[in-house]
Amino acid sequence: MRIWVSIVLLSISFFSCQNESQLVLTSSSPNTNVEVDFNVNQEGKPFYLVKFKNKVVVDTSYLGFEFKDIPSLEKNFKVKNTTTQSFNETWQMPWGEQLDVVNNYNELKIELEETSELNRKLNIVFKVYDDGIGFRYEFPEQNKFEGDVLIKEEHTEFNLTEDYKTFWIPGDWDIYEHLYSTTKLSEIDAKSYIPKTNLAQSYIPENAVNTPVTMVGKDGLHLSFHEASLLDYSGMTLKVDTENFNLKSNLVGSENRDYKVKQSLPFNTPWRTIQITDNAPDLIASNLIVNLNEPNKLGDVSWFTPMKYTGVWWEMHLGKSTWDYGMEMVDGKWTDTGKAHGKHGATTENVKRFIDFSAKNNIKGVLVEGWNTGWERWIGFEDREGVFDFVTTYPDYDLDEVTSYAKEKGVEIIMHHETSAATQTYEKQQDTAYALMQKYGMHAVKSGYVGKIIPKGEYHHGQYMVNQYNNAAIKAASYEVAVNAHEPIKATGLRRTYPNIISREGLRGQEFNAWSGDGGNPPEHLPIVAFTRMLAGPIDFTPGIFNIKFDEYRKDNQVNTTLAQQLALYVVIYSPVQMAADLVEHYEANPKPLQFIRDVGVDWKESIVLNGEVGDYVTIARQERETDNWFVGSITDENARTITLNFDFLEEGQTYDAVIYKDGEKAHWDNNPLDIKIEELQINKNSNLTIKLAEGGGFAISLIKTK
Ligand code: NOJ
Ligand code: CA
Repeated sequence: MRIWVSIVLLSISFFSCQNESQLVLTSSSPNTNVEVDFNVNQEGKPFYLVKFKNKVVVDTSYLGFEFKDIPSLEKNFKVKNTTTQSFNETWQMPWGEQLDVVNNYNELKIELEETSELNRKLNIVFKVYDDGIGFRYEFPEQNKFEGDVLIKEEHTEFNLTEDYKTFWIPGDWDIYEHLYSTTKLSEIDAKSYIPKTNLAQSYIPENAVNTPVTMVGKDGLHLSFHEASLLDYSGMTLKVDTENFNLKSNLVGSENRDYKVKQSLPFNTPWRTIQITDNAPDLIASNLIVNLNEPNKLGDVSWFTPMKYTGVWWEMHLGKSTWDYGMEMVDGKWTDTGKAHGKHGATTENVKRFIDFSAKNNIKGVLVEGWNTGWERWIGFEDREGVFDFVTTYPDYDLDEVTSYAKEKGVEIIMHHETSAATQTYEKQQDTAYALMQKYGMHAVKSGYVGKIIPKGEYHHGQYMVNQYNNAAIKAASYEVAVNAHEPIKATGLRRTYPNIISREGLRGQEFNAWSGDGGNPPEHLPIVAFTRMLAGPIDFTPGIFNIKFDEYRKDNQVNTTLAQQLALYVVIYSPVQMAADLVEHYEANPKPLQFIRDVGVDWKESIVLNGEVGDYVTIARQERETDNWFVGSITDENARTITLNFDFLEEGQTYDAVIYKDGEKAHWDNNPLDIKIEELQINKNSNLTIKLAEGGGFAISLIKTK
């Protein structure tokens, strides 16, 4: 691994230091485009300001904390000390969108102390990058707090200067699975958003948004607000003051306590992040979020390898089969009382069909949901503790047989742990559950947290749950298990520190297209997601539905994209586990488009965002690590458009056998989604291609080095 670190101490810039209250501390990014100024005002209130190319993007914004029982930390501060350093390293992702990541920033650390008799200390650290900033609070060791620090609210402001076009989901404390709204900042009305989440509880207490929230300015400025390294703290939503274009942190709370975060000294908060670029593609290219996380603490995680996977999954969402078997609880034990309904999906036989198909098609994993007892009571029951045990199989599923059959075929079974949000049951079971996986050589688990959290009163995004998700992943790592959580806490780049945190849901995934009462995800959904949710990290979206209309199963639902767009998603939406989500029979009926799923990579040496506009379209090229082959994906919203590509990212002097999977002449996401045209040609660095994308369409290209 090549790491180059340089730490240079810089002298601090003091501007206009006639007297202390006018002291301004400033730090600029390495290329000087981004600048942060910090000061305390007359009352000793700390504030900061952000400029991009000399224009104020975040105006005077105050910082502070409110606690339970003790005075707030918000004013009467003086600057005790400041330090600056610049940092430049290149680190490597064990798996990812790229191999080498440059982490280059200038840091400004301000040590504050209260001038009142309280004399408490608080540090604020800014890291200023070319693509934005991160800052966090550090509570140093001190004897000025008695016992634990109980935070009622963090008061971090982002005081914006323009009525941006904003792409947002409501600041729900329980689920991120909402459609994005596109409105002016001044028109955000999260309280009147009507949640369409069929599977989990939803709670939207304020006119607040969840992050990443992305904004586009009149002169092309792009901003995205989020957080990095969310550990032992509550998730942050941003409360919107629509009149003053102001965002303010609003932490997720709990009904069980009258504070939102409990911490003991010393501790640091997560990083509050602002990605700042002057075009949309650079937002996706930004590595700010991962860079703000600590380096790998797990060491070698090569026991997990990125993979495509199929699974017993879509068939349940379509209603072809069920998770449950038809057992009954007798004396506290799941018992086969002869009520099996015969529609159970996770049977040994069915799973073998997926194994055979995957082995034949260059797909390494098979996910099996509904394999363990408990699904008869998983949802809609108040008392769900003890329902699942994560080791007991239904009578028609033979784990020994399935895993050894998979092994013979070179395929790995992906474990499924639906906790139904009964967190104490899961905590108690984790060692046993992960040990079972280790015994069978299973290295990846998809976990799920559907429903209202038990214990009652907790929310999915509060500190209690943040610790549940993180502790589960850390424990899993000790059993060589990688985690892909659904109904998760948001991604904040922890995959750098714990690279067994491979992927997650945390958005309206493909499943909504199978059953959502509002008709599923509209064509604009993913062109928004690519510039919002995807900035946080990998997404288990589960692409690749070929039978777009599935009238045989659900007449009123469908996928709202063309078939070509479903292929493009393997490149556009990044995840180190990428599902081929459709039924085996639907793939077998379409061998030609299936070829793209067989060929496409899942682990990348380099990614280039070729073009895009937030909410409209995006085109990404990625180079596969193992082979150096390239893959390109492009998707559009409900508007047809023409995209011209040049291939100057390809290797000099190398020809590539290209296969282009594009929308047919008459393709349309609704009227004619299956119209696809597949062309083969040779491409090199000097080639150009003009491709038409249909309404809700896209294209995928594989570029395999000519031998
Ligand atoms: C919701 C998840 O998003 C979905 O993928 C899964 O099939 C169900 N929960 C059952 O665990
Ligand atoms: Ca879900």
